[in-house]
Amino acid sequence: MIIVYSSNTGYTAQYAKLLGKALEMPSYELSNVPECHKDAEVIYLGWLFAGTIVGYKKCARRYTVKCAVGVGMSPPTPELSEGLRAAMKVPASVPVFYLQGGFDINKLKGPMKLIMKVKCKEIAGRLTAKPELTESERATYEMTQSGGSVVCSENLAEIIAWYR
Ligand SMILES: Cc1cc2nc3c(=O)[nH]c(=O)nc-3n(C[C@H](O)[C@H](O)[C@H](O)COP(=O)(O)O)c2cc1C
Repeated sequence: MIIVYSSNTGYTAQYAKLLGKALEMPSYELSNVPECHKDAEVIYLGWLFAGTIVGYKKCARRYTVKCAVGVGMSPPTPELSEGLRAAMKVPASVPVFYLQGGFDINKLKGPMKLIMKVKCKEIAGRLTAKPELTESERATYEMTQSGGSVVCSENLAEIIAWYR
């Protein structure tokens, strides 16, 4: 088994490296998987773009995806991974995990930066309307204001448990 990932600003790549270390598996960017792995079984991690796991479909066409992981800025909820499963048509036999990653508007350029400027205002507005925030919600709020990351190996516990 190998780890394959797509990362726009680096946070998903960080998770892929941490998971690779924990499971003693090599990790490769989707566009850069060595030819010798062409029939490989794969744990796939992709960054979240508008409710979709970037690169999942391409990866599923090329390899046997055994586990799909979306990395986003939203606070994790149980519904999130099932929403990702539906959006990406992940078969019922393949587990889908969601990991809260990081976000920094300054790492974006062009149209994505403009879109996320608006989105961040929207998200921050929604969060400040809440009487109390969970730790993950606070992290998301921080990301919208000054950028931030919650990437850490502890967040991989569920995926590591699935693998073992
Ligand atoms: C254009 C755009 C759309 C995004 N859409 C979502 C989304 O639907 N849900 C979410 O949780 N995060 C969303 N994000 C946040 C990223 O998925 C998050 O910052 C992720 O950690 C980025 O990983 P990367 O550094 O590997 O690219 C979006 C970010 C951008 C730039």
